[in-house]
Amino acid sequence: MKYYIQTLGCAMNYSDSERVASVLQKLGFKKTENPRETDLYLFNTCSIRQKGEDRVYGMMRNLGEWKKQNPRLKLALTGCMVRKTSTRNTEKENRDKLLGKFKMLDFVFKITDTQRLEEILQESEHRPFTEEESESPGRLEYLNVNPDYTNIFQAFVPIQIGCDKFCTYCIVPYARGREQSRDMDAILKECAGLVEKGCREITLVGQTVNSYGKSGIDKLHGKFAEYKDPFVELLTRVDKLGEKGLNRLRFTSPHPYDFTDSLITAHAKLKTLTPHIHLPVQAGDDRTLQKMNRKYSVEQYKEIIKKFRAAVPGCSVTTDIIVGFCAEKEEQFENSYRLYQDLRFDMAYIARYSERPGTVSVKAFADDVPRAEKARRWHKLNDILEECSHEYNQSLIGKTLEVLVESHNPETGECEGKSRENKVVQFPGTTDLIGTVKEVKIQKALKWVVKGTSEF
Ligand code: SAH
Ligand code: SF4
Ligand code: F3S
Repeated sequence: MKYYIQTLGCAMNYSDSERVASVLQKLGFKKTENPRETDLYLFNTCSIRQKGEDRVYGMMRNLGEWKKQNPRLKLALTGCMVRKTSTRNTEKENRDKLLGKFKMLDFVFKITDTQRLEEILQESEHRPFTEEESESPGRLEYLNVNPDYTNIFQAFVPIQIGCDKFCTYCIVPYARGREQSRDMDAILKECAGLVEKGCREITLVGQTVNSYGKSGIDKLHGKFAEYKDPFVELLTRVDKLGEKGLNRLRFTSPHPYDFTDSLITAHAKLKTLTPHIHLPVQAGDDRTLQKMNRKYSVEQYKEIIKKFRAAVPGCSVTTDIIVGFCAEKEEQFENSYRLYQDLRFDMAYIARYSERPGTVSVKAFADDVPRAEKARRWHKLNDILEECSHEYNQSLIGKTLEVLVESHNPETGECEGKSRENKVVQFPGTTDLIGTVKEVKIQKALKWVVKGTSEF
């Protein structure tokens, strides 16, 4: 039996897919890269914008056709589109809405049921899982599954699940449930195991990583009560793996609300922590931020960046911004634009606001910025993003950067990887460099990449 996993969405989803893969392998499934020859096609879905869900619907229709040609093919779905239960498409009651909508799907399961995949595959043919079972107290347990890492030299390690921030536009708290932090020992064990196997770069992942250990459920359990700043404590402990060969420690994404001074100090002090911060701002206008329920002001955000840049000279600062949110007039958008001009983020994910059913902003506000206007604002921000990215890349010319090589292009003979600042670097090299750290002297800056040589 072969399986194929199609992953959409964020780092958390890619990390989750590695765990699903390892469970399937234990059950005797073999991985295939060719979706046409698979026996089990599994979608790990993202709901953050309508576009992502539409893509799944489109692919599902194609797969329905394949299934007609190959009735043995099983179609399954997990990830953020699954809101209710883990179940087979056999029972009418209690099943996830998706199963009613897509008759070609064989089963859906909540990602937190990954370790129960065998049961889900077998038992639920007769009995669907109930919502209570799916939301059992052991939601964190699936993280104990040993992942089948895509790359050993560069790995994601999840540190928390869910999100409690409830930004008014966002589906994540509904899709992933309440925020809960993984045991520090379990995280450290996974990181140590990775480094022992030769891992050079670890990225700690979660929705708001710097609230690690501080959620309502965490407080109820009292597990992190002994730490003043549990996230900084975690970073400090993972950083010790630097002595064993860990070269870089990253995390994604922190939230401005929980951003402490001690996190800034840690960045300046801890050797493996990279000189890069990805801190989503979402808007550069106080009224909009309030409407989004982001719980900080533009001034507070700017202050964090100012301190960060002072503590970590030459660092890269990147962000997420939404354009065309409810009631964003020209004046509010101009404030976001001005913030960009001011802070000159060297990279940003710019999103056009997309209504997510069930969220507060759909219930309480009107999606009142026309589509063409959202596009105009997106392009305007994208223009300044290109300018700032190029400007930052130019500042790297003449510098020697440490590059973790991720791939090799046989056509150009170039290696590609990222610098500690998270910039894409290309240089002439060979395939055997993949997974190693090379020093590269930067000679040329393009808009999105810099080029250099390792022979100097
Ligand atoms: N937890 C992270 C972000 C996770 S979602 C944080 O708060 O920083 C990734 C990004 O998708 C968000 O930062 C936001 O910019 C974008 N996003 C989320 N919901 C969206 C929506 N409804 N429409 C458009 N973009 C959205
Ligand atoms: Fe969504 Fe806000 Fe949570 Fe990020 S912090 S996942 S944007 S609710
Ligand atoms: Fe998407 Fe879920 Fe991540 S909605 S962005 S896959 S948490």
